[in-house]
Amino acid sequence: MCGIVAATAARDVVPVLIAGLKALEYRGYDSAGISVLEDGRLARVRAVGKVRELESLYRAAPVAGATGIAHTRWATHGAPSTSNAHPHVSSERVAVVHNGIIENHAQLREELRAKGYRFESETDTEVIAHLVEDAIAGGASLLEAVIAATRRLHGAYAIAVMNRDTPERIVGARRGSPLVAGLGDGEFFLGSDVQALIKQTNRFKFLEEGDVAEISRDGCAIYDADGTPVERPERKSELSADAVERGEYRHYMLKEIFEQPRAIADTLEGRIADGRVLPNIFGVDADQLLQRVRHVQIVACGTSYHAGLVARYWLEGLVGLPCSVEVASEYRYRRAVVPEGTLFLAVSQSGETADTLAALRDGRNRGYLGSLAICNVPESSLVRESDLVLMTRAGPEIGVASTKAFTTQLAALALLAIELARINGMAADKYAKLVAELATLPRVVAEVLTLEPEIAKLAERFVPKHHALFLGRGVHYPVALEGALKLKEISYIHAEAYPAGELKHGPLALVDEDMPVITVAPNNQLLEKLKSNLEEVRARGGELFVFADTDAPVQQDGTRGAVLKVASGGNLIAPAVFTVPLQLLAYHVAVLRGTDVDQPRNLAKSVTVE
Ligand code: G6P
Repeated sequence: MCGIVAATAARDVVPVLIAGLKALEYRGYDSAGISVLEDGRLARVRAVGKVRELESLYRAAPVAGATGIAHTRWATHGAPSTSNAHPHVSSERVAVVHNGIIENHAQLREELRAKGYRFESETDTEVIAHLVEDAIAGGASLLEAVIAATRRLHGAYAIAVMNRDTPERIVGARRGSPLVAGLGDGEFFLGSDVQALIKQTNRFKFLEEGDVAEISRDGCAIYDADGTPVERPERKSELSADAVERGEYRHYMLKEIFEQPRAIADTLEGRIADGRVLPNIFGVDADQLLQRVRHVQIVACGTSYHAGLVARYWLEGLVGLPCSVEVASEYRYRRAVVPEGTLFLAVSQSGETADTLAALRDGRNRGYLGSLAICNVPESSLVRESDLVLMTRAGPEIGVASTKAFTTQLAALALLAIELARINGMAADKYAKLVAELATLPRVVAEVLTLEPEIAKLAERFVPKHHALFLGRGVHYPVALEGALKLKEISYIHAEAYPAGELKHGPLALVDEDMPVITVAPNNQLLEKLKSNLEEVRARGGELFVFADTDAPVQQDGTRGAVLKVASGGNLIAPAVFTVPLQLLAYHVAVLRGTDVDQPRNLAKSVTVE
């Protein structure tokens, strides 16, 4: 999704802007641009494709300036093209970068056209440039002009704006999309997230909904939507610049897959001790709220939604609490009935996913008992706006395809399920067993990672395929969904997941010798039923690839397909464990097919628009 960087300093800020854009590459984008104030004029460089294309244009014809804004664009209105790339300018005076969607842009465009403004792009953003210019032409300062312009906008935005005539000043604003101010020494910055600026500073102020910030070399002043000065607390980020480096790994995704034992251990750290889940890990007084929970509504998107689906089996099966799970983009537009005592549980890696956030905000009027966020970014909007929070401690996840975020979400959700089980009177020995099993998850995941060479070999068989089917039963159906999502996201092989019992209600028609069928087969009470489903595939000539528990009696089918043994470590943690070989499979298939593993086509890491 679009990324913003802006800087004003006593030095040339182009290298700062380019470094910031590179740090934002993980969000997914298709064009990039920068604009700096150079000798009293707005210099602009824009390119379709990666930041490196922008960089080579810049090297061929360098620009320099002490104040500048920059952007990576993920196309929404208008194709990826140079003319649609940001920054957008008006009258060679105002330059704007924008993340979000302006819903009333068509109406504003007509109005501005009637006033004589000419549009050079198909974007919704260009209206902001003209609105700001129009107010400045009418005598407003940059700050006043941005406040006036944002009052006219419907939809979501984070913006950074500069004015050729007031150099050393940049005004940013946010509503619905994230924006943070970075505080340096005699230099100040704006960015979509901390990562964009962490090489420059570790001191930040997080803008709240409707805030407007003006940065200059003297400081950062923040105003609310009415223009009244407000104070936002300064925070020190713990993020280290190295945390976002790829190190010896070929791709971020592979690095993040291998970071899982540590990420899960960090997520459990200080939360389990003396054979129990420690009280109040969800926040002060969380216990009182959790005691009143009678129903859980999980809302999330993408991979986080799959984590929610796994949690439903735990909350219903272990705790006995009814639980509903829904993708946020559907949930927020449905008149869902909220049973009494419902906990709203949002699961999100980034904490900035537009639909998940909107669902949380709408939820305030729907009569929930309270909200709990399971999230990976401490400074995110979701964390700031939820009643209770349990952070996953995966560290920055850069690969668009989510891996360590998912398994740490499962660890966090397991903590919640175990805590709710205790509150709801689970027998002490059963409780102790679950806690002990969860504590082994980092070690068990480390073991399963040793299967990588075998999985890499297996991946060769998938390279020529066009389709793949993933099967699972019970709590492993969401694992199959996640495996199929990983494969389709990064290898572009069409992949579907089905609950194995549904096979004969449709997908069996697709099974022939060209269809690989990937199955997770833990040794649980559904194994025998699953094995019957596998026979149905075998009988139709389908090629089976089974990830089976070490003690599950699943036989290799001659030379066709493969059975790989996975030590699942127990029924509670098995979903997290079985996910890992599926991540590795998708990764190696994608590498062999030569796709852009970390930034798959058309996808974004942090989906900050609807
Ligand atoms: C995008 C990402 C996915 C992610 C989903 C939800 O689609 O590419 O990896 O699962 O958004 O994101 P969230 O940050 O809310 O977990």
